[in-house]
Amino acid sequence: MFAVHLMAFYFTKLKEDQIKKVDRFLYHMRLSDETLLDIMARFQVEMQKGLGKDTNPTASVKMLPTFVRAIPDGSENGEFLSLDLGGSKFRVLKVQVSEEGKRNVQMESQFYPTPNEIIRGNGTELFEYVADCLADFMKTKELMQKKLPLGLTFSFPCKQTKLEEGILLSWTKKFKARGVQGTDVVSSLTNAMKRHQDLDVDILALVNDTVGTMMTCAYDDPYCEVGVIIGTGTNACYMEDMSNIDLVEGDEGRMCINTEWGAFGDDGALEDIRTEFDRELDLGSLNPGKQLFEKMISSLYLGELVRLILLKMAKAGLLFGGEKSSALHIKGKIETRHVAAMERYKEGLGNTREILTDLGLEPSDADCIAVQHVCTIVSFRSANLCAAALAAILTRLRENKKLVRLRTTVGMDGTLYKIHPQYPKRLHKVVRKLVPNCDVRFLLSESGSTKGAAMVTAVASRVQAQRKQIDKVLALFRLTQEQLVGIQNKMRVEFEYGLKKDTHPLATVKMLPTYVCGMPDGTEKGKFLALDLGGTNFRVLLVKIRSGRRSVRMYNKIFAVPLEIMQGTGEELFDHIVQCIADFLDYMGLKGAQLPLGFTFSFPCRQTSIDKGTLIEWTKGFKATDCEGEDVVDMLREAIKRRNEFDLDIVAVVNDTVGTMMTCGYEDRNCEVGLIAGTGSNMCYMEEMRNIELVEGDEGKMCINTEWGGFGDNGCLDDIQTQYDKEVDEGSLNPGKQRYEKMTSGMYLGEIVRQILINLTKQGLLFRGQISERLRTRGIFETKFLSQIESDRLALLQVRRILQQLGLDSTCEDSIVVKEVCGVVSRRAAQLYGAGLAAIVEKRREDQGLEHMRITVGVDGTLYKLHPHFSRILRETVKELAPHCDVMFMLSEDGSGKGAALITAVAKRLQQAQREH
Ligand code: BG6
Ligand code: BG6
Ligand code: GLC
Ligand code: GLC
Repeated sequence: MFAVHLMAFYFTKLKEDQIKKVDRFLYHMRLSDETLLDIMARFQVEMQKGLGKDTNPTASVKMLPTFVRAIPDGSENGEFLSLDLGGSKFRVLKVQVSEEGKRNVQMESQFYPTPNEIIRGNGTELFEYVADCLADFMKTKELMQKKLPLGLTFSFPCKQTKLEEGILLSWTKKFKARGVQGTDVVSSLTNAMKRHQDLDVDILALVNDTVGTMMTCAYDDPYCEVGVIIGTGTNACYMEDMSNIDLVEGDEGRMCINTEWGAFGDDGALEDIRTEFDRELDLGSLNPGKQLFEKMISSLYLGELVRLILLKMAKAGLLFGGEKSSALHIKGKIETRHVAAMERYKEGLGNTREILTDLGLEPSDADCIAVQHVCTIVSFRSANLCAAALAAILTRLRENKKLVRLRTTVGMDGTLYKIHPQYPKRLHKVVRKLVPNCDVRFLLSESGSTKGAAMVTAVASRVQAQRKQIDKVLALFRLTQEQLVGIQNKMRVEFEYGLKKDTHPLATVKMLPTYVCGMPDGTEKGKFLALDLGGTNFRVLLVKIRSGRRSVRMYNKIFAVPLEIMQGTGEELFDHIVQCIADFLDYMGLKGAQLPLGFTFSFPCRQTSIDKGTLIEWTKGFKATDCEGEDVVDMLREAIKRRNEFDLDIVAVVNDTVGTMMTCGYEDRNCEVGLIAGTGSNMCYMEEMRNIELVEGDEGKMCINTEWGGFGDNGCLDDIQTQYDKEVDEGSLNPGKQRYEKMTSGMYLGEIVRQILINLTKQGLLFRGQISERLRTRGIFETKFLSQIESDRLALLQVRRILQQLGLDSTCEDSIVVKEVCGVVSRRAAQLYGAGLAAIVEKRREDQGLEHMRITVGVDGTLYKLHPHFSRILRETVKELAPHCDVMFMLSEDGSGKGAALITAVAKRLQQAQREH
C-alpha cells in the first residue's frame, strides 16, 4: 500500500518537475488570455485592411472575394462532378443533389495519389494529371457520355473576379508546381481536359476548401456562415456584407470572403509571438517568409515544430540525457499524427514511448512526460491562435449585424481538428472565452468540402442556364457585317425608288423634294422668327443674322406641347402654336412686329414650293386630327388669322434634317447631309436635280428629305425585326409605319428595352420574376435614361439608383442585365444608322464619279448628343461600310431653328430678286 502511494507520489512529482521544466523552456509559446485578445484585435485590423481598396494591395491577409453570395437554400439539385485538390488527399467525386426536392446528397468518390514530382513539377503536367484522374474516374463510373458541370475545390489562395475563375496568388503547403502562379487555374484545367476528346465537362465553379466546408455545413444548418479548416493548412471564410467589400461592385446582400488567414503575420505583425523554432521551421519550408500564421498552426508544420523543440532540448541536455538520435535530426520525422497520438488520454504516454523508441531514442519516464507536454504546448498554442482569429471573425459578424448577441454556426474541417483528441475542445473553449457574447455552434463537416462545392456548382449551373436564356434574347439584336451590308444595299434601292416618278408613289422611303437648292452664302441678313416643332422641345426663336461675318444671334423660348394638344384636333394644335408665338413676341417686346418666319416642322411634308408643305402623315408622338393631307403653312396662317392679333410672313417650311444641314452648312460648305438621331430618325442630303424626277429641271441640286424612318414599311426589314420590335410597333400611334425609325430612334429604343425586360422578367430572369407596375408603364425609358444607364463612368450602384428612380427595384445582377439590354439595343440602332448613312454617301460618291469623297454630315438629336456610345458606333459602321468616303460629323450646336432662319433669309433674298426683275 505504502509502495503504491510512494510510486504515485514519485510519479506526480516527476510529472510536475517535467512540466515545469518544459513550461519554463517553452515559456514564449504559452499565450495568455491578454495576448490572445491582443492577437484578436490585430486580426480585426488585418481584415479591415484586406477589405479596403487602397489597403488591400499591401495587406498580408488578402480577404479574397469568392463570388459565392448565398448559402444553400435547399432548392439546389442536379448531378455534378467535383475535384478536391490541395488538402491531404486528392479526390474525384460525383455528387447527386436532391432529385426529389428533399435535402439529400449522394456521393461517389475515388482518391488519387499526389506524388511530389507532380505537385512540385511542371504546372502543365499537374493539370494533365488531374484531367487524367478525372477521365479515369468517369470511365470507371461510366459517366463518359454525360455532360456534367464540375465544381473544383482548390485549396490555395486564388483571386477571383467571377466564380468560374481563379488566379493562383501563390502556392502554399506542399504544392509548388512551376508556371501556375499568376495564371487562371480554371482555364489551365479546361485546356488540360481537351486532351481527352471524350470528356465533356464544364468547370462552373472554383471554391476554396473553407468555402466548400461552410457550404457543406450550411446545407444542414442555415445558421452556418463561417468555414474553418485546420488541416494540412489553415484558413477561414465567412459571409461579409457586400457594402464592406470594396473590391467588388455592389452593396446588396453578402458575399463569402476567403480570408487566407494563413498569411497573417507575413508583414511582421506577429514577430513578437514567433519563436526561434517558428523561424527555423520557416527557413526550411517551401515558402520561407510566407504563411507565418499557418506555420504556427496547421498539421503540415506541428510535428516539425515539436521535432525542432525536442532537438534543441536534447542539445541543451534537458532530454534523453543529452543524447540525440540521428532520426531526430531528420526533417519531417515527427508528424502531426504522432503529436496527436502522444496526446491521447490514456494511451498517450505509451504512444510517446513507442514513437520516441521508433526514432532510435531510449526515453526515460521523465522524457516521455516532457515530450508529451511539449506536444501539448505546441498544439495548445495552435488552437489558441486559431481561436483568436476566429473570435475576430465572429466579432466582425456580430458587429455587421449590429447585434448584442450573435448566434451562429461555424463549419469545421481538416485532419488536425478531426484526429487530434484534445484540439476541438480546446478551440471551442477558448473561442467562447474570447467572445462571450456569441453563441457558437461548431459543426464538423462530415463529407468534406465537396458537398458544399456541389451546392455552389448547382447554383452556378442554374445561373448559367439563365445566362444562356438572356444571351439568346440579346443575340437577336446583334447584326453581322453581312446583314449590315444587306441593309445598306436595300436602303440604296429604296432611295432610287423614291426618286423615280414611276416607283415613287409606292416607295416607303419617300425622298421628298424640299425646294432648298443652295447653301447660305454669307450675304444673308436680317431678323427672323423661327418655329421648331416636332423634336423633344417646341421652341419659338428670334434669329438675327448679320451679313458678311457669318454670325448669328438667337433668342429662344421653349414651350410645352401637352399630350392632349399633340393628339387633339389640328385647330387646337395650331392655336396653341400661335399662342406660344404671341407669348414669345410679348416676352421679346416685339408685339406687332411683322417678321419673316421659318417653320421647322419635323414631319414628312410634300412640298411644291418652299412655303408649302402638305403633311403626309404624323409620325412620332403626334396625332392631331384634320392635319394629314393639309398644308401646314395654311393651317398656321389660319390660326394666326383666327387670333387676329399680329401678322407674320411665313416664308419657308423646313424639315429638322434640312434645318440641321443648313445650320452646319453655314459653317462648313462641305456639309451636304443632315442627320437627326433624336426622338425620330431621318436624313436629308443634296441631290442632283437631274436625279429628281418629281421636280422639273436638271440644273443644280436640291435637298431631298429622305424620310428614311419609313424604311422597312414594305417588309424589307422583317428578317431583322424581333418580337420586341413588333410589340413596340403594335403599341405605337402608327402601327406598321416608320419601322426603321422604331428600331433606331430615341422615342422607341427605351420601349424596346422595356419590352425585353418584361419578357426576361416573365421568364424569371430579372427583378425576381415580378413585373412591377412601373415596368408596365409605356415610355419610362426616355433617351436620357438610356444614355445614363449606359455611361461607362457609372458604377453599377449608380445604374441601380437610376433604375430605382424609375421605380424598378433591381438587384446589382439585374442592373448588369438591364445595362446589357440597353447596350445591344442602342448598338443595333447606331449600326442601322451607319448602314443608312453609308448608303447615301456611297450613292453621292458614285453619282459624282469620284473614287474618293469627302463629305460633312450635320447631325442633331438627343440620342446622338446624349448617348455615350451611339456616335462612336455610328462612325465606325460608316467607316466600314463606306470605306471610300471620308465622312466628317459635325454636331449642330444651335438646332434646326437657325437653319430654318437661314433658309428663310435665302428665300427672302430670292423673292426680292424675283420681284426686282
Ligand atoms: C477536406 C476537404 O475535408 O478537408 C479538403 O475536402 C480540404 O479539400 C481538407 O483541403 C482540409 O483538410 P486536410 O487536413 O486534408 O488538409
Ligand atoms: C433639335 C432641332 O436640335 O433637334 C429639332 O431643333 C429636332 O427641331 C431635334 O427635331 C431632333 O432631336 P430631338 O432629340 O429633340 O428629337
Ligand atoms: C492554405 C491555403 C488555403 C486553404 C488552407 C486549408 O492556407 O492557402 O487556401 O484554405 O490551406 O487547406
Ligand atoms: C420623324 C419625322 C421626320 C423627322 C424625324 C426627326 O421621322 O417623320 O420628318 O425628320 O422624325 O425628327
